[in-house]
Amino acid sequence: MLNLTVPLEDELGDVLEKAMRQAGLGEEEVAQRSGVATARILDAVDYRSDLSSAELRQLAGVLGLNEVGLCALGCGQYPRPEMTSLPFCVHPLRMPHGIGCANAYLVTECGASRGLLFDTGPDIGTLTAVWPRAVKEVDAVFVTHVEPEHSGGLCEVVARFGLPQAYCPAGVSAPCGEPMAEGQRLRFGHFEVKAFHTPGHSPAHNCYLVSNPSVPSGGALLVSGDLIFAGSMGGGYHSQRQLATHLRRVLAGVPPQTVIAPGHGPMTTAGNELRYNPFLA
Ligand SMILES: [Fe+2]
Repeated sequence: MLNLTVPLEDELGDVLEKAMRQAGLGEEEVAQRSGVATARILDAVDYRSDLSSAELRQLAGVLGLNEVGLCALGCGQYPRPEMTSLPFCVHPLRMPHGIGCANAYLVTECGASRGLLFDTGPDIGTLTAVWPRAVKEVDAVFVTHVEPEHSGGLCEVVARFGLPQAYCPAGVSAPCGEPMAEGQRLRFGHFEVKAFHTPGHSPAHNCYLVSNPSVPSGGALLVSGDLIFAGSMGGGYHSQRQLATHLRRVLAGVPPQTVIAPGHGPMTTAGNELRYNPFLA
Protein backbone atom coordinates (compact mmCIF):
# COMPACT_ATOMS: atom_id res chain seq x y z
CA MET A 1 0.00 0.00 0.00
CA LEU A 2 1.27 3.44 -0.93
CA ASN A 3 -0.37 6.44 0.67
CA LEU A 4 0.08 9.14 -1.91
CA THR A 5 -3.10 11.04 -1.19
CA VAL A 6 -2.25 12.29 2.30
CA PRO A 7 -0.03 15.40 2.07
CA LEU A 8 3.16 15.61 4.07
CA GLU A 9 2.73 17.47 7.34
CA ASP A 10 5.75 19.71 6.78
CA GLU A 11 6.90 21.48 3.65
CA LEU A 12 10.46 22.57 2.94
CA GLY A 13 9.85 25.89 4.72
CA ASP A 14 8.75 24.15 7.93
CA VAL A 15 11.74 21.84 7.84
CA LEU A 16 14.20 24.73 7.32
CA GLU A 17 12.59 26.69 10.14
CA LYS A 18 12.73 23.73 12.54
CA ALA A 19 16.32 22.98 11.51
CA MET A 20 17.46 26.57 12.09
CA ARG A 21 15.82 26.55 15.51
CA GLN A 22 17.47 23.22 16.30
CA ALA A 23 20.87 24.54 15.22
CA GLY A 24 20.31 27.81 17.09
CA LEU A 25 21.04 29.79 13.91
CA GLY A 26 19.16 32.73 12.39
CA GLU A 27 18.62 33.23 8.64
CA GLU A 28 21.51 35.66 8.32
CA GLU A 29 23.98 33.36 9.99
CA VAL A 30 22.81 30.45 7.83
CA ALA A 31 23.10 32.69 4.75
CA GLN A 32 26.64 33.67 5.68
CA ARG A 33 27.75 30.11 6.29
CA SER A 34 26.01 28.56 3.27
CA GLY A 35 26.45 31.31 0.69
CA VAL A 36 22.70 31.24 -0.01
CA ALA A 37 21.17 34.75 0.07
CA THR A 38 19.13 35.61 3.18
CA ALA A 39 16.17 36.67 1.04
CA ARG A 40 16.10 33.28 -0.67
CA ILE A 41 16.12 31.48 2.69
CA LEU A 42 13.32 33.74 3.96
CA ASP A 43 11.31 33.05 0.81
CA ALA A 44 11.73 29.31 1.32
CA VAL A 45 10.66 29.54 4.98
CA ASP A 46 7.65 31.49 3.68
CA TYR A 47 6.69 28.60 1.33
CA ARG A 48 7.94 30.44 -1.80
CA SER A 49 11.01 28.36 -2.41
CA ASP A 50 12.80 28.20 -5.71
CA LEU A 51 16.04 27.05 -4.15
CA SER A 52 18.22 25.03 -6.51
CA SER A 53 19.56 21.60 -5.59
CA ALA A 54 22.99 23.16 -5.11
CA GLU A 55 21.58 25.70 -2.65
CA LEU A 56 19.63 23.01 -0.81
CA ARG A 57 22.80 20.95 -0.50
CA GLN A 58 24.65 23.95 0.96
CA LEU A 59 21.84 24.54 3.46
CA ALA A 60 21.76 20.84 4.39
CA GLY A 61 25.49 20.98 5.10
CA VAL A 62 25.24 24.02 7.36
CA LEU A 63 22.16 22.72 9.18
CA GLY A 64 23.31 19.11 9.50
CA LEU A 65 20.39 17.77 7.46
CA ASN A 66 20.09 14.76 5.16
CA GLU A 67 20.77 16.43 1.81
CA VAL A 68 19.10 13.79 -0.35
CA GLY A 69 15.92 14.04 1.70
CA LEU A 70 16.03 17.84 1.80
CA CYS A 71 16.48 18.07 -1.99
CA ALA A 72 13.65 15.57 -2.52
CA LEU A 73 11.41 17.65 -0.28
CA GLY A 74 12.49 20.83 -2.07
CA CYS A 75 11.34 19.49 -5.43
CA GLY A 76 8.14 17.90 -4.12
CA GLN A 77 9.48 14.37 -4.54
CA TYR A 78 9.87 13.15 -0.96
CA PRO A 79 9.84 9.32 -1.24
CA ARG A 80 6.69 7.51 -0.11
CA PRO A 81 7.57 3.93 0.80
CA GLU A 82 5.73 0.80 -0.10
CA MET A 83 4.37 -0.42 3.25
CA THR A 84 5.26 -3.92 4.32
CA SER A 85 2.16 -5.88 5.15
CA LEU A 86 1.38 -6.07 8.84
CA PRO A 87 -0.16 -9.10 10.59
CA PHE A 88 -3.14 -6.93 11.58
CA CYS A 89 -5.17 -4.03 10.19
CA VAL A 90 -4.53 -0.33 10.82
CA HIS A 91 -7.31 2.22 10.38
CA PRO A 92 -5.89 5.76 10.21
CA LEU A 93 -8.48 8.19 11.59
CA ARG A 94 -7.65 11.58 10.05
CA MET A 95 -9.47 14.41 11.72
CA PRO A 96 -9.54 18.11 10.88
CA HIS A 97 -8.29 20.39 13.61
CA GLY A 98 -7.81 24.13 13.00
CA ILE A 99 -6.04 24.57 9.69
CA GLY A 100 -4.50 21.10 9.90
CA CYS A 101 -5.32 17.51 10.48
CA ALA A 102 -4.52 15.19 13.38
CA ASN A 103 -4.33 11.40 13.15
CA ALA A 104 -5.55 8.79 15.58
CA TYR A 105 -5.23 5.08 14.77
CA LEU A 106 -7.38 2.07 15.40
CA VAL A 107 -5.60 -1.28 15.27
CA THR A 108 -7.65 -4.45 14.86
CA GLU A 109 -7.23 -8.00 13.74
CA CYS A 110 -8.41 -7.81 10.15
CA GLY A 111 -12.17 -8.21 10.03
CA ALA A 112 -12.55 -8.07 13.83
CA SER A 113 -15.06 -5.84 15.57
CA ARG A 114 -12.76 -4.84 18.43
CA GLY A 115 -9.41 -3.18 18.59
CA LEU A 116 -6.95 -0.82 20.26
CA LEU A 117 -7.22 2.95 19.90
CA PHE A 118 -4.22 5.26 19.78
CA ASP A 119 -5.07 8.91 20.49
CA THR A 120 -8.58 10.33 20.26
CA GLY A 121 -8.30 13.40 17.98
CA PRO A 122 -9.89 16.74 18.89
CA ASP A 123 -13.16 15.51 20.42
CA ILE A 124 -15.49 12.53 20.56
CA GLY A 125 -17.83 13.93 17.87
CA THR A 126 -15.00 14.28 15.33
CA LEU A 127 -13.73 10.82 16.25
CA THR A 128 -17.19 9.30 15.83
CA ALA A 129 -17.50 10.89 12.36
CA VAL A 130 -14.45 8.99 11.05
CA TRP A 131 -14.95 5.80 13.07
CA PRO A 132 -15.15 2.56 11.01
CA ARG A 133 -18.64 1.13 11.51
CA ALA A 134 -17.47 -2.45 11.75
CA VAL A 135 -15.48 -1.76 14.92
CA LYS A 136 -17.77 -1.81 17.95
CA GLU A 137 -15.48 -2.31 20.92
CA VAL A 138 -12.15 -1.01 22.12
CA ASP A 139 -9.99 -3.02 24.51
CA ALA A 140 -7.64 -0.17 25.42
CA VAL A 141 -6.94 3.47 24.62
CA PHE A 142 -3.38 4.82 24.43
CA VAL A 143 -2.38 8.48 24.38
CA THR A 144 0.87 9.68 22.79
CA HIS A 145 0.64 13.10 24.41
CA VAL A 146 -1.96 15.27 26.03
CA GLU A 147 -2.83 18.07 23.61
CA PRO A 148 -6.26 19.20 22.40
CA GLU A 149 -5.77 17.75 18.88
CA HIS A 150 -4.55 14.34 20.08
CA SER A 151 -6.38 13.59 23.32
CA GLY A 152 -9.57 15.66 23.05
CA GLY A 153 -12.58 14.09 24.78
CA LEU A 154 -10.34 11.41 26.30
CA CYS A 155 -12.52 10.70 29.34
CA GLU A 156 -15.67 10.57 27.20
CA VAL A 157 -14.02 8.10 24.81
CA VAL A 158 -12.79 5.95 27.70
CA ALA A 159 -16.30 5.97 29.21
CA ARG A 160 -17.93 5.25 25.82
CA PHE A 161 -16.03 1.95 25.63
CA GLY A 162 -16.53 1.09 29.30
CA LEU A 163 -12.82 1.29 30.12
CA PRO A 164 -11.41 2.29 33.52
CA GLN A 165 -8.72 4.56 32.06
CA ALA A 166 -6.42 5.25 29.12
CA TYR A 167 -2.68 4.53 29.04
CA CYS A 168 -0.74 7.79 29.00
CA PRO A 169 2.91 8.87 29.10
CA ALA A 170 4.38 8.97 32.57
CA GLY A 171 4.43 12.46 34.06
CA VAL A 172 1.22 13.65 32.51
CA SER A 173 -1.78 14.69 34.55
CA ALA A 174 -4.72 13.35 32.55
CA PRO A 175 -7.85 12.87 34.66
CA CYS A 176 -8.60 9.39 33.29
CA GLY A 177 -5.06 8.35 32.42
CA GLU A 178 -2.79 5.70 33.88
CA PRO A 179 0.94 6.06 33.22
CA MET A 180 2.68 3.61 30.91
CA ALA A 181 6.44 3.80 31.44
CA GLU A 182 9.42 3.32 29.13
CA GLY A 183 9.81 -0.32 28.14
CA GLN A 184 6.50 -1.40 29.68
CA ARG A 185 4.66 -4.04 27.63
CA LEU A 186 0.97 -4.88 27.73
CA ARG A 187 -0.89 -7.75 26.05
CA PHE A 188 -4.39 -7.55 24.60
CA GLY A 189 -5.41 -10.74 22.82
CA HIS A 190 -2.78 -11.30 20.13
CA PHE A 191 -1.44 -7.78 20.40
CA GLU A 192 1.54 -6.58 22.38
CA VAL A 193 2.02 -2.86 22.96
CA LYS A 194 5.39 -1.58 24.14
CA ALA A 195 5.91 2.01 25.28
CA PHE A 196 8.84 4.27 24.47
CA HIS A 197 9.02 7.40 26.63
CA THR A 198 9.96 10.16 24.21
CA PRO A 199 9.67 13.64 25.74
CA GLY A 200 10.78 16.65 23.70
CA HIS A 201 7.75 17.79 21.71
CA SER A 202 6.00 17.91 25.07
CA PRO A 203 7.30 17.07 28.55
CA ALA A 204 5.35 13.80 28.58
CA HIS A 205 5.15 11.91 25.30
CA ASN A 206 5.03 8.22 24.42
CA CYS A 207 5.42 6.25 21.22
CA TYR A 208 3.87 2.78 21.09
CA LEU A 209 5.20 -0.23 19.24
CA VAL A 210 2.38 -2.59 18.32
CA SER A 211 3.13 -6.15 17.27
CA ASN A 212 1.59 -9.61 17.12
CA PRO A 213 4.20 -11.85 18.80
CA SER A 214 2.44 -14.97 17.53
CA VAL A 215 3.56 -13.89 14.03
CA PRO A 216 7.27 -13.24 14.74
CA SER A 217 8.03 -12.64 11.07
CA GLY A 218 5.25 -10.03 10.84
CA GLY A 219 6.18 -6.37 10.97
CA ALA A 220 5.33 -3.93 13.72
CA LEU A 221 3.60 -0.57 13.86
CA LEU A 222 5.13 2.42 15.63
CA VAL A 223 2.50 4.95 16.66
CA SER A 224 4.83 7.91 16.88
CA GLY A 225 2.68 10.86 17.95
CA ASP A 226 4.62 14.04 17.25
CA LEU A 227 8.11 12.51 17.53
CA ILE A 228 8.50 12.02 13.78
CA PHE A 229 6.52 12.76 10.62
CA ALA A 230 7.18 11.47 7.11
CA GLY A 231 9.90 13.86 5.95
CA SER A 232 10.14 15.83 9.19
CA MET A 233 9.94 15.73 12.97
CA GLY A 234 7.68 17.28 15.59
CA GLY A 235 8.40 20.68 17.06
CA GLY A 236 10.76 20.58 20.05
CA TYR A 237 8.54 22.82 22.15
CA HIS A 238 9.63 21.25 25.44
CA SER A 239 13.20 20.30 24.51
CA GLN A 240 14.65 20.18 21.02
CA ARG A 241 17.65 18.24 22.32
CA GLN A 242 15.54 15.55 24.00
CA LEU A 243 13.33 15.24 20.94
CA ALA A 244 16.33 14.74 18.63
CA THR A 245 17.87 12.19 21.03
CA HIS A 246 14.69 10.12 21.30
CA LEU A 247 14.09 10.34 17.56
CA ARG A 248 17.43 8.66 16.89
CA ARG A 249 17.05 6.19 19.76
CA VAL A 250 13.60 4.96 18.74
CA LEU A 251 14.38 4.75 15.02
CA ALA A 252 17.54 2.77 15.80
CA GLY A 253 15.56 0.45 18.09
CA VAL A 254 12.97 -0.82 15.61
CA PRO A 255 13.43 -2.94 12.46
CA PRO A 256 13.59 -0.87 9.23
CA GLN A 257 10.36 -2.37 7.87
CA THR A 258 8.45 -1.03 10.88
CA VAL A 259 5.48 1.04 9.72
CA ILE A 260 5.33 4.48 11.33
CA ALA A 261 1.92 5.98 12.10
CA PRO A 262 2.53 9.65 12.98
CA GLY A 263 0.25 12.17 14.69
CA HIS A 264 0.16 14.23 11.46
CA GLY A 265 0.64 13.46 7.77
CA PRO A 266 0.96 10.13 5.98
CA MET A 267 2.29 6.84 7.30
CA THR A 268 5.84 5.89 6.40
CA THR A 269 8.43 3.30 7.41
CA ALA A 270 11.45 3.43 9.70
CA GLY A 271 13.68 2.44 6.79
CA ASN A 272 12.40 5.23 4.57
CA GLU A 273 12.93 7.85 7.27
CA LEU A 274 16.38 6.57 8.23
CA ARG A 275 17.30 6.96 4.58
CA TYR A 276 15.63 10.26 3.69
CA ASN A 277 14.30 12.17 6.71
CA PRO A 278 16.13 15.52 6.71
CA PHE A 279 16.59 15.30 10.49
CA LEU A 280 18.21 11.86 10.37
CA ALA A 281 21.38 12.76 8.50
FE1 LIG B 1 0.24 17.47 17.11
